[in-house]
Amino acid sequence: MKIRYKFGVWMLCLMFPALVWAENAKSICTSFTQQGRQVTFHLADSAALQLQLCSPSVVRIWFSPDGKLQRRNASFAVINEELEDVGTVHVDEQAACYEIFTSKLRIRVNKSPMSIQIFDKYQKLLFSDYADKGHVSEGTKKVEYKTLRRDEHFFGLGEKTGKMDRRGESYKMWNSDKPCYSVVEDPLYKSIPFFMSSYRYGIFLDNTYKTEFKFGTESRDYYSFEAPDGEMIYYFIFGKDYKEILSQYVGLTGKPIMPPKWALGFAQCRGLLTSEKLSREIAEGYRTRGIPCDIIYQDIGWTEHLQDFEWRKGNYGHPKKMLADLKEMGFKVVVSQDPVISQANKKQWEEADRLGYFVKDSTNGKSYDMPWPWGGNCGVVDFTLPAVADWWGTYQQKPIDDGISGFWTDMGEPAWSNEEQTERLVMKHHLGMHDEIHNVYGLTWDKVVKEQFEKRNPNRRVFQMTRAAYAGLQRYTFGWTGDCGNGDDVLQGWGQLANQIPVILSAGLGVIPFTTCDITGYCGDIEDYHPFAELYTRWIQFGAFNPLSRIHHEGDNPVEPWLFGPEAEKNAKEAIELKYRLLPYIYTYAREAHDTGLPIMRPLFLEYPADMETFSTDGQFLFGQELLVAPVVKKGARTKNVYLPEGTWIDYNNKQTVYTGEQWTTVEAPLSCIPMFVKQGSIIPTMPVMNYTHEKPVYPLIFEVFPAPKGEEASFTLYEDEGEDLGYQRDEFAKTPVRFRTEEGGYLLSVGAREGKGYAVPAPRNFIFRMYLKTAPKGVTVQGKKVKKVKPERLEENPDDDTESMVWSWDKATGICSLRMPDRGEESRISLRL
Ligand code: NOJ
Repeated sequence: MKIRYKFGVWMLCLMFPALVWAENAKSICTSFTQQGRQVTFHLADSAALQLQLCSPSVVRIWFSPDGKLQRRNASFAVINEELEDVGTVHVDEQAACYEIFTSKLRIRVNKSPMSIQIFDKYQKLLFSDYADKGHVSEGTKKVEYKTLRRDEHFFGLGEKTGKMDRRGESYKMWNSDKPCYSVVEDPLYKSIPFFMSSYRYGIFLDNTYKTEFKFGTESRDYYSFEAPDGEMIYYFIFGKDYKEILSQYVGLTGKPIMPPKWALGFAQCRGLLTSEKLSREIAEGYRTRGIPCDIIYQDIGWTEHLQDFEWRKGNYGHPKKMLADLKEMGFKVVVSQDPVISQANKKQWEEADRLGYFVKDSTNGKSYDMPWPWGGNCGVVDFTLPAVADWWGTYQQKPIDDGISGFWTDMGEPAWSNEEQTERLVMKHHLGMHDEIHNVYGLTWDKVVKEQFEKRNPNRRVFQMTRAAYAGLQRYTFGWTGDCGNGDDVLQGWGQLANQIPVILSAGLGVIPFTTCDITGYCGDIEDYHPFAELYTRWIQFGAFNPLSRIHHEGDNPVEPWLFGPEAEKNAKEAIELKYRLLPYIYTYAREAHDTGLPIMRPLFLEYPADMETFSTDGQFLFGQELLVAPVVKKGARTKNVYLPEGTWIDYNNKQTVYTGEQWTTVEAPLSCIPMFVKQGSIIPTMPVMNYTHEKPVYPLIFEVFPAPKGEEASFTLYEDEGEDLGYQRDEFAKTPVRFRTEEGGYLLSVGAREGKGYAVPAPRNFIFRMYLKTAPKGVTVQGKKVKKVKPERLEENPDDDTESMVWSWDKATGICSLRMPDRGEESRISLRL
């Protein structure tokens, strides 16, 4: 082994003579010191490069021009740096370089000029400083230049516009309030300085200043990332594929919180949805039409003053009664909060000012006077000050005690903070000047909202949906993509609808698995509802797959599904119903997102990383592993061009049509249709449509089974839990494994014994298996005993009444074989004989 490594070093010296022989007195590495997993290389000009092995595949790299290696603040994003045991770290000194080997990587630090190169264990170069320009600093600014390969592609940076493949583009991180942002707008609200390369590594630049990323915009030979100030600390994360890189980023920055189940239902909002009357009307509207909906949002006007958390007088006569009545109808209410106190709200402003809870103006030491888009001038609450947490928590508890269910944390950039505006940089927070804190301001607020919620409402899941944040937000909150849409002409919103697919997919790669866009696009007055109906329909069809699905529009523009004509209402209802039907599947993936950070709405390359065609499939996505969704986002389009990756794909809208993967195909997509495919060899758990997620505690679970090819198996493990409490953190859940094996002469369906503790599935209930077979089984047996055959229509008749007997049916016209069996939580083996 040793010989191979040495040979490798020698080869490298031959391959990169410039790196080894170039003379640059300044960047010569002279020595190193070591403390356990931390190795510091010292340079002749007193700079230092420190490597810390977080795991065999994750390295924290810190370039410190003055060699002091001091940080102003602990990381806001990283909560764990020791991801795995790395054994004894040994630095191997060679004539021209130092080398550190892990079980996954070979890290090479060349001495002169100092440069770093990281190889995988097969000697493939993954990541390399660009020539002698690897680490450049000038004043407080630091730039890292890295070699760019001809075939290298980049993904990530969280919620960003534009195509998912970031090569050839540059981006900034500066949380910005951008009403009616364009399809190429940058920066936006959130800063997630984490990207992944097709060379199987990710970089997380943990710097909160206005950082910049240039993916080959300056040169074809290098790309760069830079920070105007602060420490140049970044994490190199190796993974065999994007999923593995992501999971290690989650190891560093934390797992996403689990949403309450109702959060995955449909939600209605409007800028001026700020009254009891309107809330009641909307609630009534949904229920009388039988359109499922779980949440009604109240926009910021609900509150009397920014931000006293009092119900606006005149608008809400009996808020508690309203909340109780809406609860009775199955609705949750989520209210908006802004992070400021209006001066018009004299009492609270003076209180916060006296307590020193506002961000200061460093030019005069007074509370900073922030003009706010509404509510006059405001004091900006300093959430980096620990004492603020309880103060804010007391206020925000008031509406919770009244009966609301969550918060919509808006405007946390804090608002109107476009990067051109520099006058706000005089703001001084407890933890630093605004240029350092700006990008984490929203995150520090989210943390307070979540921790205070949990402190005062024990054992309840927090619901918080946020606009502005920084990496690590998944520990506290969910997301939404802000004010998209076309303000000049609402009918021109098609481009923004298309843009929201990659925006949300990229948000997912930044570990914001639970997010939504403003369905309908936030901006633009809707003057005429009829011409908007098509765009409305297509927004909802896409939005139904947004994990949080919230419909919202600016001002007093109602966007309830019944306002755009009967056809649009029917199509919208169907799209929403589909979401509710898929809830058991979605909830299982919500748990996966909590465990791993993987979003349910995921780009194709997450599942098919070797297929480079997937790098340019921005108009479609996978919904979990099994489903592929390709919403129509073009005006007038009645077909959709879809790329199906490797495998066989079944048209979910017409289950008898089958496509072979690894090719583009054009499918029919009338206005009523969301092009959607299911992979052969999948099981999709579904449930009957309900008005809201908790309407009926007991219902049959319907497993749609798409058999695998002969000799293979389809499987799915259904996840269930209480839905609202923190039991999931104590591993209180139930898991039901289902397998369906295609054999010579038949199929074997196995339901595993229920796994888990602390959560009891509401019983008694039925499982229904809807199996898409080509030929009718001759007979069905369970544990060797014959199962009774009935007519298809009888099988699903009153499934809640008979939870004792087991029956099966065959429907020749659809090719569906159905089986109904009581769910006893026990192992069962059912054989279908052909
Ligand atoms: C800005 C948000 O992005 C928008 O959704 C909201 O309606 C307004 N603030 C008013 O609160």
